Amino acid sequence: MTRYWEDLKILQVNREAPRAYYIPYGEAEAALSGKRGRSPYYQTLNGRWKFQYQSSVKDVENGFYDVATDVSAWDDLTVPSCWQVKGYDQLQYTNVNYPFPCDPPFVPNENPAGLYVREFNISENWKGKEKYVVFEGVNSCFYLWINGEFVGYSQGSRVPAEFNISPYIQSGKNRMAVMVLKWCDGTYIEDQDLWRFSGIFRDVYLLARDQNHIVDVFNKQELSDDCQKAVFRCELQTTSPLEINAQLRNAKGDVVHEGKAMIDRKGSLEFEVLEPVLWNAENPYLYSLYIYSGDEVLLFKVGFRKVEIKDGVFRINGTAVKLKGVNRHDSHPVLGQTIPINHMIKDLVLMKRHNVNTIRASHYPNDPRFLDLCNAYGFYLIDEADLECHGVLHAGDYHMLTRNPDWEHAFLERAIRMVERDKNHPSIVMWSLGNESGYDMNHMAMARWIKGRDTSRPIHYEGVDPRHKGSPNTEVIDVESRMYSSPAYIENYAKDENSTKPMFLCEYSHAMGNGPGDLKDYWDIIYKYPKLMGGCVWEWSDHGIKTQSANGTQYFAYGGDFGDQPNDGNFCIDGLVGPDRKPHTGLLELKQVIAPIRIEAEDLSKGAITVTNLFDFTILSHMELTWKIEKDGQLMDQGEPIQLHALPHTAQQVSIPYAIPSQSHSRYFLTVSCRSKWDTRWAEAGHEICFGQFELPVHRLQEHKAQSIPAIHVNSSGHQLSIEGFDFKHIFDMYNGVFIKVTKHGLDMIDSPVKFNIWRAPTDNDRKIKHSWMEEGYDRATMHVYSSEITNQTDTSVEIEVKFSLGGYIKIPILHGVALWKVDGTGEISLQVDITVRESLVFLPRFGLQLTMPQGTEEVEYFGLGPHESYIDKRQSVKKGKYLLTVDEMFENYIMPQENGSRYGTEWAIVSNEQGMGLKFSGSDDFSIHAAHYTPEDLTRAAHDYELVRRQETIVHLDYKISGVGSNSCGPELLEPYRLDEKEFKFEIRIKPIFKEDE
Ligand code: GAL
Ligand code: MG
Repeated sequence: MTRYWEDLKILQVNREAPRAYYIPYGEAEAALSGKRGRSPYYQTLNGRWKFQYQSSVKDVENGFYDVATDVSAWDDLTVPSCWQVKGYDQLQYTNVNYPFPCDPPFVPNENPAGLYVREFNISENWKGKEKYVVFEGVNSCFYLWINGEFVGYSQGSRVPAEFNISPYIQSGKNRMAVMVLKWCDGTYIEDQDLWRFSGIFRDVYLLARDQNHIVDVFNKQELSDDCQKAVFRCELQTTSPLEINAQLRNAKGDVVHEGKAMIDRKGSLEFEVLEPVLWNAENPYLYSLYIYSGDEVLLFKVGFRKVEIKDGVFRINGTAVKLKGVNRHDSHPVLGQTIPINHMIKDLVLMKRHNVNTIRASHYPNDPRFLDLCNAYGFYLIDEADLECHGVLHAGDYHMLTRNPDWEHAFLERAIRMVERDKNHPSIVMWSLGNESGYDMNHMAMARWIKGRDTSRPIHYEGVDPRHKGSPNTEVIDVESRMYSSPAYIENYAKDENSTKPMFLCEYSHAMGNGPGDLKDYWDIIYKYPKLMGGCVWEWSDHGIKTQSANGTQYFAYGGDFGDQPNDGNFCIDGLVGPDRKPHTGLLELKQVIAPIRIEAEDLSKGAITVTNLFDFTILSHMELTWKIEKDGQLMDQGEPIQLHALPHTAQQVSIPYAIPSQSHSRYFLTVSCRSKWDTRWAEAGHEICFGQFELPVHRLQEHKAQSIPAIHVNSSGHQLSIEGFDFKHIFDMYNGVFIKVTKHGLDMIDSPVKFNIWRAPTDNDRKIKHSWMEEGYDRATMHVYSSEITNQTDTSVEIEVKFSLGGYIKIPILHGVALWKVDGTGEISLQVDITVRESLVFLPRFGLQLTMPQGTEEVEYFGLGPHESYIDKRQSVKKGKYLLTVDEMFENYIMPQENGSRYGTEWAIVSNEQGMGLKFSGSDDFSIHAAHYTPEDLTRAAHDYELVRRQETIVHLDYKISGVGSNSCGPELLEPYRLDEKEFKFEIRIKPIFKEDE
């Protein structure tokens, strides 16, 4: 076997030139169904293959591909599939680092090999036809034999390889043998942040073609400035002179144009379409172009649309659009990188339902059927070349391959194979030269080639960011692309008149763990400047692998869980949805922030609001607005839905017929919701696109509780001060400065002493700051009491003042405080604490009280934001209201346990047992509440969710503030307004034991 796998000059042997993706059908109707099996010229080779895994190519037996070789003892393997999820080789997750010594183009001598053999029949009907085999995706390279004869070789994992196999095939039974190697020189430029999978992971099939047939089709179009007229030009390439008939049909199936042409190897067919219905992501109108020749009919979906950059603004069909995107990998928790079509659809439907209009195919071309789906569902797609050599950065020089002429062909080929396969898809609005591979001449060669072939789409490549110090010569790249830049950075760019290219955030708001917390900050700025075209959140989905722990608990594994070295831990768990596609709260945030409708208050005393249509092409008449008024969280009023009609990019005044009192003891909230009136392909009528919520201007009357306060009895014994009232008895520990017992009617409300607390289980976004936190002892702060004394005592109340500090061993105390605890005859405990934080410390994770409530405390009722978790910078998707949840429902499960489930903006909360016996908390200002069966330390310690041991008791945190979550796992530092970095502050909270059913 020739060692092609380390030879940069040989990237293929006998492979057909790349061409547009299509399947030849026998009839138009079958073509329209999209079911490839309905073509008489298509035959799948998916299914059961005989398989032998060798941990080194050196052990592959010569002649394994011979017809006579007995493979009956080999394993069975379903194709397509990835070895590593089928029990072969080693599951390994590595991001930037190469899994082997960086010595391009050489890969380890012990290069694992997978041998595939299968037999297949060739139908009599294929007699006289040319026969091809297409491999849609094989990682990383393969050798092909048919009936014992060598056919060819190919590398390049995520683009197809096609071979003409006519000379090797006979009627009836045939044998195909494939040797796939785990690594080849191509692996150096397939260093994407991924589980490293190998094998025939996409479909394999045979095609039978007429002797004379169409090879390639390139559908081009030129739209007039007003988009009212399209010149459509279908460029064809044939094997030999061939008569073709073309028919363009609209979505209803009516013929719009018919034409004939004689194509002698190269030629084209051109015609005009007047007033075409335009394609865009909101209304993905598709025409069908049928091309008949000989026995075959090919079908191409055509979307009339124009992509352009004019005056520094990215436009579709002349309109400035914002790309509201996500980065999507091919990732499946069980199948690895083999993605079934329903799984793709599930992703797309979820994206649509969350207002996503753009997908960056990070970081390689996807299965061709995925692009068909994007055309049909309506997504703007950034198609990315299968090219990343991030690892050379850690090996020393980011630009070493792009600058090296030996690699030019390998780079170029990846642009060519992508563009040739995908050029006919209307959904693709930009070509990307790949990801994180430095920037220099090999990239320029790619860009120049693309521009020579397709002038209809801009070129994107993030490597041009000057901070990477690649070549400054960036004219061939059309957009200024960045990753993880801060909102301030992109605003500066937008304001700079010397920067003329539109800016695209190909990655931003790293969605790892609890986050991202900065989405609105980005979008406020993106909306402000036409030059900012939007961006794609990193990333759509967590890449956990479904696995079981030693005791049989199912969990999602990440890097290192399989003993893989090197690994990047849970850096692959950074999606908006879980591996099972369960949306994380970050996705709910994204949905609301990028919603195509904005709702603002105009004059709430009169019910006047403004609804702005941020759709780029759609009138709001497909939406209606429902509304309701809640008084202290209780439904008061609602009315008929209000019809919307605003044109794109315009606003509509809406008047809502509610009546509210001018003054009240209560708070009134208006919640409006924009809902679709009709079913769509991806959601049913009534689907909420977004909502708006406003507190109504009702003058708030203060409660005057002229309540007579019963007397108390205060007794001290030793350090313990017991405060007894009519139906309660609390005990304060004067030595430790805290309550150790709180009761009502003899029922204990706390299990252990009340504590001041500043620690939270670090989130993924705290992965950097947590080192400073721990350095200063925030994770181990204990309380020192300087003094604790009764400062005031009456018949009905007692006040205790405690001077204290919190600090961790080794370090000077973090903060000093003076706490004033007061208990009155109602049993209520009120706390007023003044805090001074030591100068020059990094911001605190949180500050508040921690209470441990007894077993059986399972219910949380609160007036605040809900129903799901919220933080100061992550609260766009929650609504103010009254919520009744269980403690378990308060918990938000992250694969790597971390701070979660806090509720920002809480006015009051009752945490109780199911009979309503518990504690009521209320603040003078809104606070954050958190109730869980885990302590911050439990969450800090566990590396996977299955390691958590649920406590019987309930840990409650009442926080003055808790710092925001941000997206610093990969993005900028937590923005200043979201940090708890006040040096002096005051916190007040009241704690009252209650039986809420009697209140
Ligand atoms: C980016 C990269 C992505 C991913 C991300 C971190 O730099 O392009 O592929 O690695 O960082 O999650
Ligand atoms: Mg990378």
